[in-house]
Amino acid sequence: MKSLAEKAEVLIEALPYIQKFRHKTVVIKYGGSTMIKQELKNAFAQDIILLKLVGINPVIVHGGGPQIGDMLKRLGKESRFFQGLRITDAETMDIVEMVLVGQINKEIVGLINHFGGRAVGLSGKDGQLIKADKLNLNHLNSSGAVGEHVRLEEGNNAQALEIPLDIDLGMVGRIVHINPEILSTLEEKGFIPIIAPIGEGERGETYNINADDAAGEIAAALKAEKVVLLTDTPGVLTPDGALLSTLKADELQRLIERGVISGGMIPKVKACLRALETQVAKAHIIDGRTNHALLLEIFTEEGIGTQIIL
Ligand SMILES: Nc1ncnc2c1ncn2[C@@H]1O[C@H](COP(=O)(O)OP(=O)(O)OP(=O)(O)O)[C@@H](O)[C@H]1O
Ligand SMILES: [Mg+2]
Repeated sequence: MKSLAEKAEVLIEALPYIQKFRHKTVVIKYGGSTMIKQELKNAFAQDIILLKLVGINPVIVHGGGPQIGDMLKRLGKESRFFQGLRITDAETMDIVEMVLVGQINKEIVGLINHFGGRAVGLSGKDGQLIKADKLNLNHLNSSGAVGEHVRLEEGNNAQALEIPLDIDLGMVGRIVHINPEILSTLEEKGFIPIIAPIGEGERGETYNINADDAAGEIAAALKAEKVVLLTDTPGVLTPDGALLSTLKADELQRLIERGVISGGMIPKVKACLRALETQVAKAHIIDGRTNHALLLEIFTEEGIGTQIIL
């Protein structure tokens, strides 16, 4: 047990960070891969409420990869990924939207409210928050991530198949615009927005947006102070499992080409980069499987996970 003096010290250690981040926005991506144990989910909900109560504005974007995968499996459909993006036919899109908006979003909202917070769930369709169009391989190509052949991953095991370049990702969306007005309206009234990464197209069509992308773009649009991506690894790892505690932007592309950064980690590092390039001060990828990881990242001296820098 901590002595009373030690408890006071812990609180005081947080003081400069509270002063620094008060009235600032922190965008938090809550990875579906970390929403497994109830204890962790409770700790996450409490962290968010604490942030809000000390005057920081948390904006949550959540994923749901494993939960969508489970539902598809129950319905007899297989999951296929390309560079961490789920290939999404029309039927899969319906299921993705149901799981993200109907199930996961409401679970997070319910949990935060249960612990005394005031959370409001949104999908990217609400208030036209996320406008999107169809992502094609040229978009990915233009960011240099795709070589002559591309990698297609089956299920969640990144088993690479060589496939031709004309693959259609279906309803995978590319964000074209963020309308952050709904978020500032909620913030003014003291609500915590919880966002499911669904985008709406010009003709009202529905797009599956990678949650890391959404977090990066929303952080950029809000001119957030920080973006923090919670996932199921200690951060960005080398092939022998060592943690890269700082990663420079100009190393990222090379690590992707060499396959060191692959699958679901690709959209994460790209989202961090995007946020930093639009003046978000800091971007971190941290282990959401550690209880209160978010508090440790924001309120203590010792950084955890990987920090991406320009
Ligand atoms: N260099 C790397 N270091 C760490 N993880 C990596 C690396 N390259 C690829 N990965 C993979 O990225 C995964 C994290 O991304 P993933 O999309 O699976 O989870 P998430 O984004 O947290 O959850 P969700 O997609 O549901 O929001 C890790 O579990 C790991 O398998
Ligand atoms: Mg992911």
